[in-house]
Amino acid sequence: MSIENDFGLIQDYDKNYCLQVFNLLPVAFVKGKGCYLYDTEGKKYLDMIGGIAVNCLGYAHPKLTSAIVSQAKSIIHACNYYHIPQKSELAYRLCRGSFADKVFFCNSGAEANEAAIKLARSYFYYKDVDKYEIITADMSFHGRTMGTIAATGQAKFQRPFEPALPGFVHVPYNDIDALIGAINPKTAAIMLELVQGESGVHPADIEYIQAIKKLCVEKGILLIFDEVQTGIGRTGKMFCYQNYGVKPDIMTLAKGLGGGVPIGAMLTTDEVATGMKPGDHGSTFGGNPLACAAGVAVMETLENEGIIDNVREVSDYIFDKLNDLRAKYNCIRSVRGKGLLIGIEFDDTITAQGMREQLFSMGILVSAIGKSTIRLAPPLILTKAQAAQFIKALDKILKSVQGPKSVFSKIKSAFPSKKQAKESVPSTSGAKIDKLDQVLTNDSDADNIKKDN
Ligand SMILES: Cc1ncc(COP(=O)(O)O)c(C=O)c1O
Repeated sequence: MSIENDFGLIQDYDKNYCLQVFNLLPVAFVKGKGCYLYDTEGKKYLDMIGGIAVNCLGYAHPKLTSAIVSQAKSIIHACNYYHIPQKSELAYRLCRGSFADKVFFCNSGAEANEAAIKLARSYFYYKDVDKYEIITADMSFHGRTMGTIAATGQAKFQRPFEPALPGFVHVPYNDIDALIGAINPKTAAIMLELVQGESGVHPADIEYIQAIKKLCVEKGILLIFDEVQTGIGRTGKMFCYQNYGVKPDIMTLAKGLGGGVPIGAMLTTDEVATGMKPGDHGSTFGGNPLACAAGVAVMETLENEGIIDNVREVSDYIFDKLNDLRAKYNCIRSVRGKGLLIGIEFDDTITAQGMREQLFSMGILVSAIGKSTIRLAPPLILTKAQAAQFIKALDKILKSVQGPKSVFSKIKSAFPSKKQAKESVPSTSGAKIDKLDQVLTNDSDADNIKKDN
């Protein structure tokens, strides 16, 4: 019998054999098709979070699946001693469609950002200019490696791992005066997300980004856009910077690029690429045939099947409908985002986890950020009818919570806090996990929730 048929065993093995760094929902998915996932019991879910902005073509997309299968049948890994046709092709496609002249491939967003941080330093090193400092934004998220947690503007990600890598300065987001005040002769680069995804879906103002570009040009500072979450069609353009009319010197990608196959990329100009010489940087798996074949299939499918037009169309529909709901229900505080990266913030009558759990029980998957925001980052192939299914479910939930005593406070009191649960449940290894733990998110959102409480 396959473990896939025994959810109890899956949970047991995870608990006993996996490092417990994620707060898992009580579900395992064994199959997907389009925008839907199926769990071990055969229950169907509408995926409005897309593997956290990864599964841009949904599940089992025929073009992506056949590219991966046919690549796996010929060659999966060769190594960077040799030319790799799929890597060359993907690099060509990325450069053809962007500001960039050169690409470095790796395996994740954090690794792409590490490469960007290293390049920002080595570029000035080879020019014999003493600049190494990188300015990033408060509440940013750039990854989990030692370099990228130092870049990340949230102390909670650094605290257990201190001392942090030096050379990073954090400033309030969307505040040009604060940024100007932080620039000094050691400033090598400014590194930003154009939509801060992990801290609540906050888009950058267009004037802010344009003013930063001007400053960078005037002062000889490199501009790095972390498009790990916003790239590959997510915001209604292939790359989010195209919404701003501002080209960076370095851009990082991951998430959507492989449509679910792990891959990261750092893109830059010929001029800035002079900052890396042979041997300065590398990756065993980076640029492997399998991941690059997936990347080529994703790019080709997005370009040829009008999927980015679909992002804009469905996004307009969702924003319209969410704004209607906002007019109808006071508890929606704000609706933010770009394309199919959307944050819905509630007032304190509704908790993000409570909303997430309600939607989950109705077969809809979203993520919860902090106490009050849910995030949507569905597959880019989402249809209006599927978006309407989500809106209808949200409307139904909000209708039920209107009034002074919300169902969410009832839900909250029905589930004890982690502390209360610990006090009431014997701490044997077989003890059932508190349900509230299970509904926390399994990415950085979980940290927001844990540490905010
Ligand atoms: C903007 C941004 N940068 C970097 C990362 C890190 O990517 P990865 O988890 O692939 O290392 C993330 C992940 O959520 C992200 O959203």
